[in-house]
Amino acid sequence: MTEAAIRRATPEDIHALVQLEQATSTAAHWSRSQYEAIFQADAPPRLTLVVENGQLSGFLVAQAAGPEWELENVAVAPAAQRRGLGTQLVRALLQEANRQHAVAILLEVRASNTAARRLYEGCGFVLAGTRSRYYQNPQEDAILYRYSFNESPQMHSEERV
Ligand SMILES: CC(C)(COP(=O)(O)OP(=O)(O)OC[C@H]1O[C@@H](n2cnc3c(N)ncnc32)[C@H](O)[C@@H]1OP(=O)(O)O)[C@@H](O)C(=O)NCCC(=O)NCCS
Repeated sequence: MTEAAIRRATPEDIHALVQLEQATSTAAHWSRSQYEAIFQADAPPRLTLVVENGQLSGFLVAQAAGPEWELENVAVAPAAQRRGLGTQLVRALLQEANRQHAVAILLEVRASNTAARRLYEGCGFVLAGTRSRYYQNPQEDAILYRYSFNESPQMHSEERV
């Protein structure tokens, strides 16, 4: 497919982020005020990316502090899924974390979320553990994944997003 455009999110994107997240049942659900807090001056460092393919079609939020970053949420609009946009977002995160000399990126995901798990594994994340009955409604284990830069030699790009 043609490369969609990835850019950093701005406060003008908040409404679209909330709508997109609400359209994807398995995304991590945040309140509107949590999205607004991302852009406040005293907020913890985060990398928030959006992908546009004619319209805003997906986003990714990661805590971007210290040697170990955390991928907190990623969602692609249902109509735009399975076209590589999730992969593009995760790869952009890997590039930026590598550029900022992060050592690893961590994340947790519901055990049953096959789409997300395949996305992460396809991008080079490896299993790092399980948190038993971590999620509620419905109760479910969390699977932990880790991407380690020193063990992933494919990341050499200095490209910046
Ligand atoms: C997870 C998600 C972001 C993937 O986005 P996407 O743009 O569809 O991902 P890609 O097109 O890059 O697909 C990458 C790989 O993921 C896997 N995948 C994606 N959707 C899948 C599905 N419905 N079933 C099985 N595997 C799937 C495939 O291996 C796919 O590669 P392939 O198409 O070459 O087989 C998307 O399904 C989504 O928004 N889900 C709801 C939100 C969510 O659960 N977020 C993660 C938890 S916070």
